[in-house]
Amino acid sequence: MRIFYTVSHLQSSAAEYLNHWAFIPTMGALHDGHLSLVQHAKEQGHSVIVSIFVNPTQFNNSEDLAKYPRTIYEDLRKLASIGVDAVFLPSVNEIYPEDGIVKSVHLGLEAESLEGHYRPGHFEGVVMVLRRLFEIVKPGHVFFGQKDLQQCMVVRRLIQQEFPLIQFNMIETMRELDGLAMSSRNERLTAEERIIANEIYQAMAKVSATDMVDSKIQILINELKTNGINTEYFNYVSLPDLVVVSNRAEAHAVVYAGYLGKVRLIDNLVFKELP
Ligand code: PAF
Repeated sequence: MRIFYTVSHLQSSAAEYLNHWAFIPTMGALHDGHLSLVQHAKEQGHSVIVSIFVNPTQFNNSEDLAKYPRTIYEDLRKLASIGVDAVFLPSVNEIYPEDGIVKSVHLGLEAESLEGHYRPGHFEGVVMVLRRLFEIVKPGHVFFGQKDLQQCMVVRRLIQQEFPLIQFNMIETMRELDGLAMSSRNERLTAEERIIANEIYQAMAKVSATDMVDSKIQILINELKTNGINTEYFNYVSLPDLVVVSNRAEAHAVVYAGYLGKVRLIDNLVFKELP
């Protein structure tokens, strides 16, 4: 497995892969969800490059950035064990050089609601880093996890508008046995919090299975609160624009975000095919 730290080293040493390989951008603290993205890329027959870069511009909360888990040696061991071809480990200066290569960001409707509302500036940071990474890595294919559904829609739009030769793949969320979506942030849950965290999945499963009016969803939100889970949003949405709708018939998915202790968890269930 080759490891690249700089743009120039990557581009001069991997010329034969450029515009062909599959790229999986990550912020590290890798779990089976990330590894399943690699497996999907390999099953499609691609050479695979993974980047690990904790992107400061997408954190609207400095404590969240400081506490984001960093497990680089363990990450590299996992990636090597599943046959990843290359890893890109850039520094902040390599991604955001002082000479202003980074362009400003204009986002579409899909970035405005939900995460866009609760984490101002988050998607601007995501698009900023991905645009830069796509220009550096020059992938033919990219793989993203459905757990970050809104991010997937934002990236899909970025690719349609600016990188039409890249093929976008959204891969189903990997879950723990009790239903909790795998996430790097789960590592920050206490043992007690981890036990109740799956209540988010159970509540989402109810809302995705039958049409529920707002007042019934509110009852579920209150039950979660009684158990220490403070909801930010819990809605039906239509895709690809993540517009909140009031009934299941108009919706493609149910989306959730909330705090369990100090840890912010997001999840979703898609129950209708993407347009
Ligand atoms: O989903 C993530 O881990 C990040 O938002 C991404 C796509 C790697 C960009 O920093």
